[in-house]
Amino acid sequence: MQNLYDNETFFNMYKKLRETRVTHNDFIEQPAMKRLLPELKGLKVLDLGCGFGEMAHYCIEKGAAQVTGIDISEKMLSAARPHPQIRYLHCPMEEVECNRHEFDIVISSLAFHYIKDYELLIRRIANWIKPRGYLVFSTEHPVILAHQSQKGWIRDSDSSILHWPIDNYGEEGSRAQFWGIDGVIKYHRKLSTLINVLIQNGLTVQEVDEPESIAEGLAKKPTLLNEKRRPSFILIKARKQEEEWGGPERT
Ligand SMILES: C[S@@+](CC[C@H](N)C(=O)[O-])C[C@H]1O[C@@H](n2cnc3c(N)ncnc32)[C@H](O)[C@@H]1O
Repeated sequence: MQNLYDNETFFNMYKKLRETRVTHNDFIEQPAMKRLLPELKGLKVLDLGCGFGEMAHYCIEKGAAQVTGIDISEKMLSAARPHPQIRYLHCPMEEVECNRHEFDIVISSLAFHYIKDYELLIRRIANWIKPRGYLVFSTEHPVILAHQSQKGWIRDSDSSILHWPIDNYGEEGSRAQFWGIDGVIKYHRKLSTLINVLIQNGLTVQEVDEPESIAEGLAKKPTLLNEKRRPSFILIKARKQEEEWGGPERT
């Protein structure tokens, strides 16, 4: 388990980046996440990898009764704004203990690609969600994480973009990349894995999104137009079934 965001150099780089308010989060991921969230009035929310707690605050603004935010990084949580209806827990999401049917909705923004065992995580989350409750999450797109080299766009001699390389798609597992520091580890999973593991755990997929930038983002950061060439993120909204789930039907 890598606690990347407690690395001093990485944390300072990431905090500075988010403070610019001109990021992929602001113009692509967060607008898409907010659009996918159901009516939150009175709901109990669990936010996995909550970071600075921005989405937790958004949920409270939208009427959620209570948000539990969980993060592995002490530095991220110490920069999170407190709120009487938000409880922050310093814990890896792989180890947190929640009660069966404790939450109406589990959300997670851009944290699942740091998790090695997606299948186990989803099995545990499905147990924490009430029947008819939701899981809404975003993660880096398989198209981004597939290539073993993780070197980004293929460019010509003038540095103009030629194309995005896809390779090693079927080889699920860890990918090491440079992002402010060397050795940032993320986990690549096929699109079918992201979706089938939900289905196998009684979660019905309601919507999948591969968002592009909102108009304000294109005006402030024109390179975001490149999202048309390949998506950075995928978001999935899934709903737990009414009846207790006994595993996939056998034929
Ligand atoms: C890209 S940041 C996103 C933060 C926040 N969700 C947002 O969208 O603003 C990823 C967050 O996931 C957290 N994280 C990474 N691995 C984790 C783990 N195993 N358990 C809990 N949190 C984790 C990081 O510490 C970081 O705060």
